Amino acid sequence: MPNAQLEDLDSWHFAPPEMSRLLLNWYARAGRELPWRKTRDAYRIWLAEIMLQQTTVAAVVEYYQHFLHQFPTLERLAAAPLEQVIDLWAGLGYYARARNLHATAQRVVADYQGRFPNTLAELMSLPGIGRSTAGAIAALAYEQPTPILDANVRRVLCRLFALQEPPRSTGAEKKLWAWAAALTPRQQVHDYTQAIMDLGALVCISSTPHCATCPLAELCRARQLGLTNQLPLKKARKKVPLRRQLALLLVAGESCLVRRRPPSGLLGGLWEFPNFEATDKPAAEVIPVYLGGQLPVKNLVLLGGARHTYSHFALEIDFYRVEIETQLQVAEPGDCCWLPLEQLPQLALHGAHKKLLPLIGN
Ligand code: ADE
Repeated sequence: MPNAQLEDLDSWHFAPPEMSRLLLNWYARAGRELPWRKTRDAYRIWLAEIMLQQTTVAAVVEYYQHFLHQFPTLERLAAAPLEQVIDLWAGLGYYARARNLHATAQRVVADYQGRFPNTLAELMSLPGIGRSTAGAIAALAYEQPTPILDANVRRVLCRLFALQEPPRSTGAEKKLWAWAAALTPRQQVHDYTQAIMDLGALVCISSTPHCATCPLAELCRARQLGLTNQLPLKKARKKVPLRRQLALLLVAGESCLVRRRPPSGLLGGLWEFPNFEATDKPAAEVIPVYLGGQLPVKNLVLLGGARHTYSHFALEIDFYRVEIETQLQVAEPGDCCWLPLEQLPQLALHGAHKKLLPLIGN
């Protein structure tokens, strides 16, 4: 009976309270002390959950504290210009989160007098808050028995119940949510929610899980079946079309030209180097044309290349250092400026162009 029927708790191979007891005992001993665990303030919990959506705890901690220092209240965040929020997000990636964060702050101030709602439906109606994040906020800030299903919990449940289906399929998704709901206790919801995330992050890790120290080892179907390394099933990588671009480190003196992308659309509000689609023509020919044809190019060097994969296409970028005499205004769409080269690491560049920074050297 690897995939227990949910509706029928009798067919489970353990009782949910047994699982939560083992997990909570382990958490009391081995759980992490993290800044967002000391509070029950929904603003602080929401901020942490958004930052943690696609980013590791280690990368988030410092940003979280810095962000709260800049925006100690929801009202201060809602009143800030979007550009300031995006620039503070620089380095965390997945910048749609920063835009949604700002939009949600404004909605909560306008529609809820600055207090986060506590129902799943209302939370999920806010930008950037999906079912799992809504469940986390309701559980962590308001002690509601709402389940979560983030990547860590998904992995724990796939193994605990030995789910032998692609975990993102519709059928699997239904089972996983139902298991998550049935396991979430009515009491100690905050700690239970943090505990199951910690179990996934520290013990039930993707490759070679630490089953010897797992509090749920005795209950784990995957372990009983010798399947811990096979589960969750991996999804097949999808083939995406390849696009080639040239990006330019356009240098005059000690500065280079960067531009901010328009606020809406792909990678909205993020910074990038000037770039254009590659053709079969040589770079030495197309770059001066791109620059308007009149600029004398003092020096042109290929710094190297980078690859970046988005959901629908992959980018292959050749990165050229192009030296020109003076900081001429280049006919570029968007918000361009000349920036001292040493300030590039602090700029909110989008992911593909962040990969170009190490090519610059000194
Ligand atoms: N990942 C998502 N939410 C988290 C949390 N509250 N603690 C640790 N890791 C998390």
